[in-house]
Amino acid sequence: MRVPFIAGNWKMNTTVGEAVSLVREMLPGLDTVKNVEKAVCPPYVSLSAVKEVLEGTSVKLGAQNLYFMEKGAYTGEISPPMLAGLCEYVIIGHSERRKYFNDTDETVNKKIQAALGAGLKPILCIGERLEENEAGKTGEVVTGQLKSALEGIPYPVGFVIAYEPVWAIGTGKPATGEQANDTIGLIRRTVSELYSGEAADDVRILYGGSVTAANTAEFMSRSEVDGALVGGASLKPDEFLSIVTQTAEIR
Ligand code: PGA
Repeated sequence: MRVPFIAGNWKMNTTVGEAVSLVREMLPGLDTVKNVEKAVCPPYVSLSAVKEVLEGTSVKLGAQNLYFMEKGAYTGEISPPMLAGLCEYVIIGHSERRKYFNDTDETVNKKIQAALGAGLKPILCIGERLEENEAGKTGEVVTGQLKSALEGIPYPVGFVIAYEPVWAIGTGKPATGEQANDTIGLIRRTVSELYSGEAADDVRILYGGSVTAANTAEFMSRSEVDGALVGGASLKPDEFLSIVTQTAEIR
């Protein structure tokens, strides 16, 4: 049985003070919800402060990115050993990083290897752009991204994948539950081909892209969807709590 997982990607929002206030506000509610794994992914500079607030609770912490080198002359970058011990999860290959910061299938693969090497659990993001979707290439694109990201990597236990159609992120236009379920089913079959049936049963595959409290049930009622990677709505304590609570009720 896969435990559903809801992760909040705060993106480039909140100062350290705001991050601490935000997590303090949502924590009492989140902490009481059972049978759903919950995580927040604040900006790097707030990880330590948020970690302190989360200490002893059921809410996990994730980073939004990392660089694949261990140390050295890479001004401005954050390495896997710097995150190890600070957080449990790390988002890798988010479409905003692919679009604005030159993450490629090749660097995503290196980042996954580096994260696993440091004992971090990757949340690998894959998803097609609008023109690819319209050209009927969704399956080809996401399976291609998945295969490149995992090339040469033994099945990573605890690994999480987020299917995030680029056209649904931050647009208020989510995929339908059926689209998400179909594509996630395809991703799971690909994991089975690459590794094994057990790996496909084990891996949690989330949907991401304009998830809100109002559409949570649409996604969580689908058999292939194991949770959500939530952007904008994860900055609103009541909304995020509602997404988590509904998920617990539905699954
Ligand atoms: P959104 O972002 O929920 O604001 O669409 C999702 C994401 O980018 O992970």
